[in-house]
Amino acid sequence: MFPKGETLVSVLPAPHLSEGSAIPPEAVIFGKSLAMQLVQTKVTKAARANVPILLEGESGTGKDVLARLVHSCSIWSDGPFVKVSCPAIPGTLLESELFGYEKGAFTGAYGAKPGRVEMANRGTLFLDEIGEMDPLLQAKLLQLLQDGQFCRIGAQQDRRIEVRVICATNRNLVEEVEAGAFRQDLFYRINVLNICLPPLRDRALDIPSLVEYFLAQSREAYGIQARPIALGTLQKMQEYSWPGNIRELENIVRRYVILDSDLSVIHEALLGPTSDPEFEAPVDGPTSLKAMTRQATLALERRVIRRTLEANGWNRKRAARALSISYRALLYKIKEAGIGSKRQPSQTPIEK
Ligand SMILES: Nc1ncnc2c1ncn2[C@@H]1O[C@H](COP(=O)(O)OP(=O)(O)OP(=O)(O)O)[C@@H](O)[C@H]1O
Ligand SMILES: [Mg+2]
Repeated sequence: MFPKGETLVSVLPAPHLSEGSAIPPEAVIFGKSLAMQLVQTKVTKAARANVPILLEGESGTGKDVLARLVHSCSIWSDGPFVKVSCPAIPGTLLESELFGYEKGAFTGAYGAKPGRVEMANRGTLFLDEIGEMDPLLQAKLLQLLQDGQFCRIGAQQDRRIEVRVICATNRNLVEEVEAGAFRQDLFYRINVLNICLPPLRDRALDIPSLVEYFLAQSREAYGIQARPIALGTLQKMQEYSWPGNIRELENIVRRYVILDSDLSVIHEALLGPTSDPEFEAPVDGPTSLKAMTRQATLALERRVIRRTLEANGWNRKRAARALSISYRALLYKIKEAGIGSKRQPSQTPIEK
């Protein structure tokens, strides 16, 4: 789990919090782990060159953070940073949202409206979860990337803009291309520079400094003076697998601060309940191995699903992706496991 040459625990001094800054300091973003050092080298080069970047990585690994950092280091850092979350906008609306429309282009188009692409002129257009974009829009985006031109819906003429495009995905786009769900030509266009963010479990060395950063942030946000986290607990955090990555770590630290530095909050989150009554074999009466195995599997599934939902701020779409199952399958399992749609009062995570 730990790359060669990295020690298990390294406690950095509390990082300086730059006031009002949406992006964590670079020392926190990149830390000291080998995996992130390689990312930093790429980011520095990528920021200078005005080429499309594809950010890959599991949910919560910091793709948004990195996109904003690249923008802030680019030649158009004074220009706009425009983010579009592809799955958040239904297919038909996404086209007008992205490319805009002319007056009368469709029923209800009472006036012309520029799209987000235009708004990002001489800045950065960040297309989040690009794998979810439908094929019609993929073709329009390809044109934009090929010659800097696009057409508002209902317009007679193409418009030209200058924009840096950054795309992010937590899907495997190579597989999507092979499955025919994503255009190969577009994949090559957006993938000029590829930056893959390592999961938090591969950056264990950086956990102490991330914890320090989130402690300082929470102290500032809630005005609560939290106690530092004991070294032994930090070590346990470094051994944990972090299915929700940095977002999960951030939520746990905030919960710890809000609940008056109660270390059991962290231990419970990392280990789950120490004994699960559903795992206990019945002591009297006949025992069916098949029934017990089924019970144990269901109990384990319930625990993993609940923890992943928590780690993803109870966002079911994100949780489904983190678990590599379909959204429908997750809904079914949530129902089967009897997990309420409401958060548990004792474990309310902080919404992003
Ligand atoms: N290197 C980092 N240092 C400090 N905080 C970070 C870092 N990376 C991510 N975070 C924090 O973790 C949370 C999740 O990060 P972010 O939204 O960038 O992840 P993501 O990869 O875009 O996730 P998703 O795929 O779910 O959209 C955010 O609150 C962000 O501020
Ligand atoms: Mg994101």
